[in-house]
Amino acid sequence: MPISGDLYRQLGRASAGAVSVVAAHEPESDAIVALTISSFVTLSFEPPLVMFAIQRNTVSYASMVTCRAFGVSLLEAGQADVARHFARPGRERAGHTAFDAGHVVQVPLVPGALAQIECLTNEVFMSGDHAIVVGLVEAARTRDGEPLLYFGRQYGLFTPLTGS
Ligand SMILES: Cc1cc2nc3c(=O)[nH]c(=O)nc-3n(C[C@H](O)[C@H](O)[C@H](O)COP(=O)(O)O)c2cc1C
Repeated sequence: MPISGDLYRQLGRASAGAVSVVAAHEPESDAIVALTISSFVTLSFEPPLVMFAIQRNTVSYASMVTCRAFGVSLLEAGQADVARHFARPGRERAGHTAFDAGHVVQVPLVPGALAQIECLTNEVFMSGDHAIVVGLVEAARTRDGEPLLYFGRQYGLFTPLTGS
């Protein structure tokens, strides 16, 4: 028998993750759709694939599962305000934001992010109340810095263990 919703939510709070913003041009209107995620994973080395999961009841869902391409920006430690902004409900949040343009694929990227990744949508899998979106990485760049992390409903920084 599956576990209760309360226990499942506790598991979510016990799981720490890096924070990213995934963004795309909406196919019909060319408006930008962007949301904060912590489900980004580097998936495959050859070919280079990455993935994220999107909740089916988000406003962004339809655009993110039908877009031809998407950008992933791994946020830097100082970008908690960016993460908060793109986690707010409502579509209008992307309209007031300046994005960098992809170099190879036409995707919106967050300026100053620790990594900017340009993807062509490769596959979409339905799984429970989420879809898993897999992207083929066409271009990417990283910069020096620390990642923005999320744990127990709080943003925070990475602290290496001494001696590790
Ligand atoms: C730290 C953090 C991580 C999140 N990770 C995800 C995620 O991986 N997938 C997802 O669908 N939503 C995730 N969310 C929630 C979305 O950012 C949030 O639901 C957003 O408001 C969706 O808005 P929309 O319904 O207007 O598209 C996350 C939120 C936060 C604060």
